[in-house]
Amino acid sequence: MNLQWYPGHMTKAKRQMQEDLKLIDLIIELVDARIPLSSRNPDIDELGKNKARLILLNKSDLADERYNEQWSAYFQKKGFYVVKVNAKSGAGLKSIQGVIQEACKAKIERDRRRGIKNRPIRAMVVGIPNVGKSTFINSYAGKACAKTGNKPGVTKGKQWIRLNKTLELLDTPGILWPKFEDQEVGKRLAFIGSIKDEILNLEELSLELLDYIRTNYPGLLNARYGIEEEGTPVSLLEAVADKRKCLIRGQEIDYAKAAGIVMEEFRNGKIGRITLEFPPVEEETAHEDHPGD
Ligand code: G4P
Repeated sequence: MNLQWYPGHMTKAKRQMQEDLKLIDLIIELVDARIPLSSRNPDIDELGKNKARLILLNKSDLADERYNEQWSAYFQKKGFYVVKVNAKSGAGLKSIQGVIQEACKAKIERDRRRGIKNRPIRAMVVGIPNVGKSTFINSYAGKACAKTGNKPGVTKGKQWIRLNKTLELLDTPGILWPKFEDQEVGKRLAFIGSIKDEILNLEELSLELLDYIRTNYPGLLNARYGIEEEGTPVSLLEAVADKRKCLIRGQEIDYAKAAGIVMEEFRNGKIGRITLEFPPVEEETAHEDHPGD
């Protein structure tokens, strides 16, 4: 399977982001906790240098908690502030405010030295499509949703959401594009549903996923589908088809339907909390607890 993806508005989006970044102090970058590296575009590090940085490990409810912890440590070590969240339920959002103050201490201190008091921190949410940017903005700012900016007569002003006296959020998130020359990265994006299913071979994808899950999370497929976990990936898919009565005209195996079930149930967490990539083992932190790496 050869995955390629050419987002149409890449250049325009990048230019827009460069403009928006001039207006802000803090970048709030959402990544998908199941694939924290594959779901980020490292270009943001160059675009956003000199800005305070906060990474939200979103959809942490769908990812393996052990690795959520390891990924948090990984990014912290690289100098990011990190909060584990579930933008959908709101879990973890409460601690963000304190972390933002901490991440922006240098700016707050600079303001203070210059005699500027109470200038709110301005932040912008960024991330690749489908990581949960809108969900996050809605849950985090939803209640406070007092829009500022766009004064009468100013047509092109930015819309800011004032969250409290100390924080304003740009109301439109910055969309980054997934970046992959590496097919493995493309595949991980496909697993979580960040690449349109129409251009993918779902059956092939589901076979790889089944194989991954039984290797790295033994027991989960048995618990969900009541199937044995031995055999080829095709035999696993056939077993799922059998259990879920995926048959064409009552007799032939409907592989496409079974594959669709596996992909959907993985994506919405029904098979379990599954992480698809593990923090790279770095020299001094190398340890053995890395299944499937
Ligand atoms: P985007 O702006 O970055 O493109 O992403 P968006 O907020 O539209 O979220 C994409 C999908 O991810 C949505 O699901 C949303 O509900 C879901 N989502 C966002 N954050 C979380 C999270 O922390 N945990 C879980 N489990 N899901 C999350 P959808 O299928 O488009 O809609 P729906 O099924 O929620 O109605």
